[in-house]
Amino acid sequence: MKPHVLITDKIHDDGILVLDNAGFDVTLGYDYSNDDIRYMMDIVDAIIVRTETHVDEYMIERGAKKRLKIIGRAGVGLDNIDTETAERCGILVVNTPEANVQSAAEHTMGMMLALSRHIPQATGGTRQGRWERNRFMGVELAEKHLSIIGLGRVGSRVAKFAKAFGMEIHGYDPYNHNWKNIDHWHEDIINAVHCADFVTIHTPLNDETRGMINDWLFHQMKPGVRLINCARGPLVNQQDLIKYLDNGTVAGYACDVFENEPVKTAEHPFYKRRNCIVTPHIGAMTYEAQKRVSIEICTKIRNFINDITNCYSS
Ligand code: MLT
Repeated sequence: MKPHVLITDKIHDDGILVLDNAGFDVTLGYDYSNDDIRYMMDIVDAIIVRTETHVDEYMIERGAKKRLKIIGRAGVGLDNIDTETAERCGILVVNTPEANVQSAAEHTMGMMLALSRHIPQATGGTRQGRWERNRFMGVELAEKHLSIIGLGRVGSRVAKFAKAFGMEIHGYDPYNHNWKNIDHWHEDIINAVHCADFVTIHTPLNDETRGMINDWLFHQMKPGVRLINCARGPLVNQQDLIKYLDNGTVAGYACDVFENEPVKTAEHPFYKRRNCIVTPHIGAMTYEAQKRVSIEICTKIRNFINDITNCYSS
């Protein structure tokens, strides 16, 4: 029987070709409902997802009773996969931790520049025939204090880019001690944000980090601070942030990620506020990153399935 892979979120064709060339059956279930995916769990060896599909306990347990061997996450964050159940059921979970680092870090810098120079707001006004040069007075990044919360791959790359802009870099991460390009290392998150002009978050989403940027922490920040979130929406307590955006403590918020995605309404509270800049989770959406992610995840799936098949047949 040919190995069968279900892909439920859109990935680059070059990865799919890796599976096709290996003789695998591939089902593209981009429009599948949760029920469709659950049914497919009876007949697949692997599932590949991005952020849109939540691979839950039921799906994993159902697949594990049949042929499911491996779950591939085309990207970094594993918060949409029930990894505990996967581990309990002996299902391997793999991701592509390096493939979109450059794109995510570049998007973060883009958001920082857009915030500091009001680029989206100025674009909107100019398009409507207004020539408001004085209204869009910005700030330079050079010599500003940037606090980076989370110094894994993306956070460290942001540190490198921000250093090139002449920023003074503050780092906080209890797990990754990547000091490179960091001017001030902090053991305490309060000290890390205390004197920051910009704060950017690059931690995974888990029980420890959910809501970590909250009322208590905003209270420690300098008035006029600007916040960038290209990691995960729930890292920031939305209600608390709105309070600090509205009282002017937070001068601007740039976010690529939301509490509940996708956001399919024009009524989101961030959309109405002129001091918010929003993009629809496009940090990794570059041709280069998507191609790398797709080839890497499909290669990992192919190799793992071929390896165990050879192992059982020899
Ligand atoms: C990731 O975790 O890799 C990012 O959220 C990007 C994505 O999956 O689109």
